[in-house]
Amino acid sequence: MTHHRSWAEPWKIKVVEPIRMTTASERKEHIREAGYNTFLLRSADVYIDLLTDSGTNAMSDRQWAGMMMGDEAYAGSRNYYALEEAVREFYGFPHLIPTHQGRGAENILSKILITPGDHVPGNMYFTTTRVHQELAGATFHDVIIDEAHDPASEHPFKGNVDLDKLDALVREGGAEKVPYVSVAATVNLAGGQPVELSNLRRVADYCHARGIRVILDATRAVENAWFIQQREPAMRDHTVAEILRLLCECADGATMSGKKDSLVNIGGWLGLREERLAEAARGLVVVYEGLHTYGGLAGRDMEAMAIGIRESVEEDHIRSRIGQVHYLGKRLIDAGVPVVRPLGGHAVFLDAAAILSHLPRDQFPAQALAAALYLESGVRAMERGAVSAGRDPKTGENRYPALELVRLTIPRRVYTQAHMDVVTESVAEVFEQRGQMHGLRFTYEPELLRFFQARFELVRAPSETGGAGAGGIALAQLEGRQALG
Ligand code: F0G
Repeated sequence: MTHHRSWAEPWKIKVVEPIRMTTASERKEHIREAGYNTFLLRSADVYIDLLTDSGTNAMSDRQWAGMMMGDEAYAGSRNYYALEEAVREFYGFPHLIPTHQGRGAENILSKILITPGDHVPGNMYFTTTRVHQELAGATFHDVIIDEAHDPASEHPFKGNVDLDKLDALVREGGAEKVPYVSVAATVNLAGGQPVELSNLRRVADYCHARGIRVILDATRAVENAWFIQQREPAMRDHTVAEILRLLCECADGATMSGKKDSLVNIGGWLGLREERLAEAARGLVVVYEGLHTYGGLAGRDMEAMAIGIRESVEEDHIRSRIGQVHYLGKRLIDAGVPVVRPLGGHAVFLDAAAILSHLPRDQFPAQALAAALYLESGVRAMERGAVSAGRDPKTGENRYPALELVRLTIPRRVYTQAHMDVVTESVAEVFEQRGQMHGLRFTYEPELLRFFQARFELVRAPSETGGAGAGGIALAQLEGRQALG
């Protein structure tokens, strides 16, 4: 008889960074000063920081040792060649153009491949990816399967491309107007949902038969590979590293934010197969990032990323990484909180539209929920709904995506299961008070990627001028209540 064995982290803790719980009245002040935008809070005022898994990872002792091996030459640093070797070995792209982070690669890629008037289909948008496509003159089209827009659908691969949608778009616009299809693995804004290997292969066959390239956003492709191993029966006996290579084989190039899967705090790259495109990319990287052998990174950063790539594909690592995300998700589900199903790879996404169903979309329920969670407990989350989606560049109207979510994003190797328990309790508390929450309206709205720096004020019902409304979001309660902890 075999007994269930729990996962545990394949590491022990060597260095710790103290964190501090604030009082409720301090947090009320902080969130108001931040214009109810969690991006504008100071990290020192945050207790458990689940804003993002980007650049917030803990590095291993080996990575830190690699930092000491930084070869800070302007040109041809040893660490560049170490990174090139790791990318070739694990991702399989022969040409490596390092960039300071993912969006640096997106900028260069969009500039070399897009002609104004082009159309770029993709499996749901990502904020920075789409903005670079639009700035280069393309229109983005979402060709993800319908299930991805339904937070309750249990489809195991909600990141899949709908080939009928893709085909309709290519027929309408003409293949020559589609420079590439942009496929993210996993799909961040769908809830960290994976793409199936067989789906990506079909997309590649379809595109390559028509002279269209496939560009992979490989930011969380290791996490995607783990889901494929778990859920795609034909892939069960393959290692995560093998599946990662198979995913990349479908693509002509990849943009990468190393700040996620690769367990570093900064860094990214553009990987390409075609020498001609790589030449064009090297021509631009020197304009926007730095010489083509450092791309805005220090030698030590490239070394840490090269080592992080090797660590990221270890089975024990990825099992416990996603195991922790799923631990939090399962506890929230048990508490009755609506979350995106199935649970994704890097985060648990709260369904703010369902939780705050009394608030209209133009009062940004997800933004309000993230602010309320901070206020309740000092846990910092991120809005991933209409504020993130921005305005349509042609009409100027707000875009209202089907998903209005708050993301509890788990940094890699940073927090313990006890932190996840505290987060569960905090979310459950906010969930109980949901009926009293107020919506928000903009007081400052930047033009591009507005979610980063936007500011808001509370929308109060006409009956509550002054009074309880002076507080914050579910606030009448908090005013009299003792601070937690
Ligand atoms: N692609 C995906 C899927 C991402 O999630 C991100 C960043 C990027 C590209 C851009 O990479 O930040 O290194 O420039 N996502 C972060 C997040 C910001 O919090 O989800 P970057």
